[in-house]
Amino acid sequence: MNSDNSNSIESVLQEQRVFSPSDDFASKSRISSFSRYLEMSEMAKSDPNKFWGDAAREELHWFKCFEKVLDWSNPPFAKWFDGGKTNISFNCLDRHLSSSIADKVALIWEGEPGDQKKYTYKQLHKEVCKAANALKSIGIGKGDLVALYMPMVPEAAIAMLACARIGAPHSVVFGGFSSEALRDRLINGEAKAIITADGGFRKDKVIPLKDAVDCALEGDSCPNVESVLVVQRTKKTIAMDKGRDYWWHEIVDSQSEECLSEEMDSEDCLFVLYTSGSTGKPKGVVHTTAGYNLWSHLTFKWIFDIRENDVYWCTADVGWITGHSYIVYGPLSNGATTVMYEGVPRPSKPGAFWDVIQKHKISIFYTAPTAIRAFMKTGKEIPDQYDLSSLRLLGTVGEPINPEAWIWYRDVIGGGKCPIVDTWWQTETGGVMISPLPGATPTKPGSATFPLPGIEADVVNSDGESVPDNEGGYLVVKRPWPGMMRNVYGDEKRFRESYWEYLKPTDNKYIYFAGDGARRDEEGYFWVMGRVDDVINVSGHRLGTMEIESALVSHESVSEAAVVGRPDDLKGESIVAFVTLKTGAEANKNIDAQLKKHVVNEIGPIAKPDEIKFTDALPKTRSGKIMRRILRALASGDEISGDTSTLEDRSVLDKLRN
Ligand code: WT7
Repeated sequence: MNSDNSNSIESVLQEQRVFSPSDDFASKSRISSFSRYLEMSEMAKSDPNKFWGDAAREELHWFKCFEKVLDWSNPPFAKWFDGGKTNISFNCLDRHLSSSIADKVALIWEGEPGDQKKYTYKQLHKEVCKAANALKSIGIGKGDLVALYMPMVPEAAIAMLACARIGAPHSVVFGGFSSEALRDRLINGEAKAIITADGGFRKDKVIPLKDAVDCALEGDSCPNVESVLVVQRTKKTIAMDKGRDYWWHEIVDSQSEECLSEEMDSEDCLFVLYTSGSTGKPKGVVHTTAGYNLWSHLTFKWIFDIRENDVYWCTADVGWITGHSYIVYGPLSNGATTVMYEGVPRPSKPGAFWDVIQKHKISIFYTAPTAIRAFMKTGKEIPDQYDLSSLRLLGTVGEPINPEAWIWYRDVIGGGKCPIVDTWWQTETGGVMISPLPGATPTKPGSATFPLPGIEADVVNSDGESVPDNEGGYLVVKRPWPGMMRNVYGDEKRFRESYWEYLKPTDNKYIYFAGDGARRDEEGYFWVMGRVDDVINVSGHRLGTMEIESALVSHESVSEAAVVGRPDDLKGESIVAFVTLKTGAEANKNIDAQLKKHVVNEIGPIAKPDEIKFTDALPKTRSGKIMRRILRALASGDEISGDTSTLEDRSVLDKLRN
């Protein structure tokens, strides 16, 4: 098992501290005791159809109620709430308009160079209707996939809700991906339109998003794309292709403020979101309407214990699932105030996050361990300069959090009084799966604690059998849940193989394999240890090592490449590439820089190798398989443990060591 991760077994094994919710917090919360959590879990387990059916009827608006809660007759293809008709845009907007929530602030946007916008639910509803009408006016309708390649501006959320409103699945592509990566996704998803911006502000630079779109569309490489809608953000001069490109303000602003929501079948596709796997190109994770809506709604309500006056801020980008579920859909479906921030902390603005918390009196803050570790490094002097007393609850997501960072987060940011919810989940799960409930669960630093009610998580061996307490194994989910992914876009085989057939349960049951390793302690707490496949997690960003390898070997000078993760104090993992060059090419600084730039062009800056090690040969087995275990040990300077007898050429090892 790959043990490259920041939650080192030693630090986690030594972790004995338990933090219980304060009486004050617990007494005001919705799920206010651990026994209540157990009761809910028991209810969900003994009668899942009733549990999920009741929740779906109570929490969502239905144009037509469903007939069946779960159809699992054709696993691994689940149907949830079959026969029902609903719309997530309606659930996030229209249903709040008849209550006092109508005039409550739905979205606070904090722009990078200091601009700011606020939308009440009423205003957001109007903007979404106008955008939906504009999409219709350029020929987008139910079932047409719309790609979004945008900065963190309100129009990103508006566009998502507008697509959902008219039944056009969206596919958000993170603005930090390159034009090559964008093109792959446009082709795979058969996108009919793209929504982008003239540029985005990132740190002190302008990211030329529209130029990248033009580049991705060059030479008719994406024949399905008919139109491009461009939000003006940076006022940078860009090329506009007449007949294909439209300015957002020119076609959206003049539209009617009314647009009825399309009545969607529960299982109609809501969005496709690409994520990295251990093989091949990124896969399009398919989520559907009702199940995803329920899961993002319910998990948000349970985990953040949202109250009327909360101001909630999640620092993710809408290009990731966290932004989908916990900036846009979960908060808005609950009628909460959600903050969207365009900036990122950096040396010139080390207090940027704390400034936002102070300014908007944020009460719930949700961020990644990488960010916390970076703040720890710059010292508590910086957050200490800000008034963070509005905070009442803190969350983390994306990677294991080391106990040291957890304690720092609690003491320095939370003033010792805020519960921390360490939420484990994935693009595939739609919403959080394992997490404390802040008013109910005693927490242990570094543990995501327990599965949410209705989630039957387990740690198993390769036969799918539960392993004893404190023994490592594969993290799995043994029962379908509403927010589960429904398919890999256009690739059923990959869906089966990656998630449902990787482990071979002796009873042939379908269990969902998450790709993570975990252990459960004697009290039932889950400790997620990190990926066990060839996926690495760099600053909470998920990358397939094979994707980076393909990018490297597509360079003319490269013969072979192998990429591994190396534990990194700040980023969780860093990227180390072992590269053999073609004859004639010389290993030097120049080629090192060229290759790094090449990966940035092929995938994006997040995939840039931290280090490239040039070598004459890679360690392989006799059957030609690269022995990554050895490379991982070499990359992190560890002893090479375990069997090396299968190595084809033992002299490779000595050379690599030097
Ligand atoms: C992978 C999923 C879920 C939204 C962000 C990432 C890792 C996620 C935790 C956590 C330990 C975590 C896992 C998982 N991960 N949350 N709380 N503790 N590991 O979504 O890009 O789909 O990545 O992130 O390895 O498999 P994603």
